[in-house]
Amino acid sequence: MKRYIQTIIEGIQTSDGAGVNLRRIIGSPELNMLDPFLLLDEFGSEDPNDYIAGFPPHPHRGFETITYMLNGKFRHKDSAGNEGFLSDGSVQWMTAGKGVIHSEMPEQTDGLIKGFQLWLNLPKEKKMISPKYNDINADQIPCINFDGGNVKIISGEFSGVTGPGEPHTGMLYFDIHLDAKSELILPIENGWNGFIYVYDGKINILDKEINKKYLAVLSQDGELILYTKEHEARFILVAGEPLNEPVARGGPFVMNTKGEILKAFSDYQEGKFA
Ligand code: CO
Repeated sequence: MKRYIQTIIEGIQTSDGAGVNLRRIIGSPELNMLDPFLLLDEFGSEDPNDYIAGFPPHPHRGFETITYMLNGKFRHKDSAGNEGFLSDGSVQWMTAGKGVIHSEMPEQTDGLIKGFQLWLNLPKEKKMISPKYNDINADQIPCINFDGGNVKIISGEFSGVTGPGEPHTGMLYFDIHLDAKSELILPIENGWNGFIYVYDGKINILDKEINKKYLAVLSQDGELILYTKEHEARFILVAGEPLNEPVARGGPFVMNTKGEILKAFSDYQEGKFA
């Protein structure tokens, strides 16, 4: 069996933080979520006005944020005194768990900023675990070269090599480059939800072509056969085991019930996140 494209979506232009312009692809009216993925934002601009305001201190509870910086520099700080630096090709894997207050601010006043933030849900029994940061430098991300391209493994396994990401449920995250007229066949666990987001060029799956700045939701079973025609392609492939649990959202908090969301807001207001 081969995976096919269920839908192709474009996402919406929006703004978040103190006024950072970004494209929201998952977590938008078009695609509210793709269990276990709650949100995918792409930020990308050479205009400092689009990013300079950054994301001043704000809370999270109940899930993980995975920030993959293709280009640019961001400084991360939190209320517990943790500090991290994201630069070209690095990843910050933050487990919000029972709660963090953090800021994500650009460490540059001009030049290109480009990357992604993905929200990965935590299963019910792990939503209130202790927060954790995993700062992954670019040189810690294995890059597997093959005839026709390469795969950077942020999380999961490819060609017998496992990436540095430490998800709490089954999940893979690859950054893939395919030359023109090339092919890549990937096994993905049956039953996992997955998507491809093209950030350069165009990629083909069966009889469909996905262009730059589009996301393709994949069917749940079988292997994935990707190929390029006359263009090269750069894209992320993300897939994960669905949690099949109720999802209650309230701004920066994602829990299982409305009551747990109200509790998150009151805990935050009472200073219990610090
Ligand atoms: Co945040």
